[in-house]
Amino acid sequence: MIVQEIEYTLKDGRKALIRSPKEEDIPGILDYLQRSSGETDYLLRYPEEWSRYTVKGAKERFERINASENGAMLVCLVEGKVAGNCQISWDDLIKTRHRASVAIALLKEYWGQGIGTRLLQELIRIAEENEKLLQIELDFIEGNSRARALYEKMGFRITGVGVNAVRLKDGTLLNEYHMIREIQR
Ligand SMILES: CC(C)(COP(=O)(O)OP(=O)(O)OC[C@H]1O[C@@H](n2cnc3c(N)ncnc32)[C@H](O)[C@@H]1OP(=O)(O)O)[C@@H](O)C(=O)NCCC(=O)NCCS
Repeated sequence: MIVQEIEYTLKDGRKALIRSPKEEDIPGILDYLQRSSGETDYLLRYPEEWSRYTVKGAKERFERINASENGAMLVCLVEGKVAGNCQISWDDLIKTRHRASVAIALLKEYWGQGIGTRLLQELIRIAEENEKLLQIELDFIEGNSRARALYEKMGFRITGVGVNAVRLKDGTLLNEYHMIREIQR
């Protein structure tokens, strides 16, 4: 789905814009995907694992998600530059259509400005407006205290652990925690 644009001011005074992705965002998004996955171990891909994600693929993906009734992608632009994005999606299966999944990431230079909070608020609003949805779910990797603090602040709680779900290049094994937030209406 397409979301209404939101303009607001960051903690440091810069202007931010949150909206659905457009074709003009593709170079910025591809750059952000590669760079952000090199800035933290807490995203599931390494930078080179984005190399098969092409301009054509991104265009098709944006068109598909913007046209979908089962989710939305939001891009955050700060002074015209892609700072990060987030996504919410759910399926149509009778047994699981009450569950939405969310994911979020930002370039490091934009951490700590309240963007994660603002994006997550918007994803929660989208979920609340879809009456079929009863809960929002996400996962975070062991050690990601910033993400965990954000999610707990927004009402998520840990409900499970995927033991050794992530293995870094150096062999370090990390757990992945599953969180849920019930939707209040
Ligand atoms: C996780 C992420 C999306 C958070 O976004 P953000 O814009 O930095 O978060 P916010 O500025 O809205 O801060 C959210 C909360 O985190 C907490 N927080 C801030 N800095 C923190 C720190 N250094 N350590 C722990 N918690 C911290 C605070 O509780 C803050 O809320 P408050 O400012 O109201 O007190 C962002 O840091 C990021 O993209 N990280 C890398 C990718 C990633 O880990 N994605 C999530 C995968 S599960």
